[in-house]
Amino acid sequence: MRLTRSFRDQYVQHEMRTHGRKNGFVTKGQEQRLRRWLPEIGLKPDVPLADCGFDMHAPVVMEIGFGNGDFLTELARRHPQWQLLGVEIYLPGVAKCVGRLEDAGVIERCRISQQPAQLVLERQIDEGQLDGVYINHPDPWPKKKHHKRRLIQKDFAALLCSRIKSGGFLRLASDKPDLAIWMRDILDQTPGLQNAGGPDGFVPRETDRIYTKFEQRGLRQGRESQFLHYQRL
Ligand SMILES: C[S@@+](CC[C@H](N)C(=O)[O-])C[C@H]1O[C@@H](n2cnc3c(N)ncnc32)[C@H](O)[C@@H]1O
Repeated sequence: MRLTRSFRDQYVQHEMRTHGRKNGFVTKGQEQRLRRWLPEIGLKPDVPLADCGFDMHAPVVMEIGFGNGDFLTELARRHPQWQLLGVEIYLPGVAKCVGRLEDAGVIERCRISQQPAQLVLERQIDEGQLDGVYINHPDPWPKKKHHKRRLIQKDFAALLCSRIKSGGFLRLASDKPDLAIWMRDILDQTPGLQNAGGPDGFVPRETDRIYTKFEQRGLRQGRESQFLHYQRL
């Protein structure tokens, strides 16, 4: 089932060029849930985070590239005091996430944007508004000529850092060693971020962490994930 263009245009279209998949088929049931919930919890591109209905005195935590929403839903479940902003450019992922959040009874504390994270951070979030950010298994873009498509770049890291409040956190995961080192090297050089890892910059896997879809896929293919934790100074 493909959503009508007029519906998609409200939440889906964006002006920045992104390289991953965006639109795709959603089931009729998923479409019904999107129609039910996006008018309420969809963060429209022209609405600042401060005007989305969140209590800006309570914690706001963001997940970038939430995929099917497994991790975001678990965060909302485990942290009843958190308000969560999930950003994901792939519509079927958004559809799955909305279903999970509704089933878990946590959807009213969440906002979803289908804009690229770069635009959301730049235009809709002010400096120091986020208590924390998670980025799990961003697209690896393994070919050297495609490295410029990777999410973590020097300018993006500076933007991200500026949106996190002092004392807040940034946590990342990747099952691709080359990308994990790429992210560590850029973030270690970002003024305002302090690496909380050991001598190699990585932290051990937290034992109570859930296995996201892409972490599971990496394990099936014989790759252990690596984890990075930063504190915003
Ligand atoms: C490899 S998947 C990982 C999904 C999930 N975090 C996991 O660990 O299973 C990367 C996700 O990031 C999303 N993504 C890519 N570029 C993005 C961007 N600029 N803004 C927001 N999401 C993005 C993709 O659509 C995709 O769902």
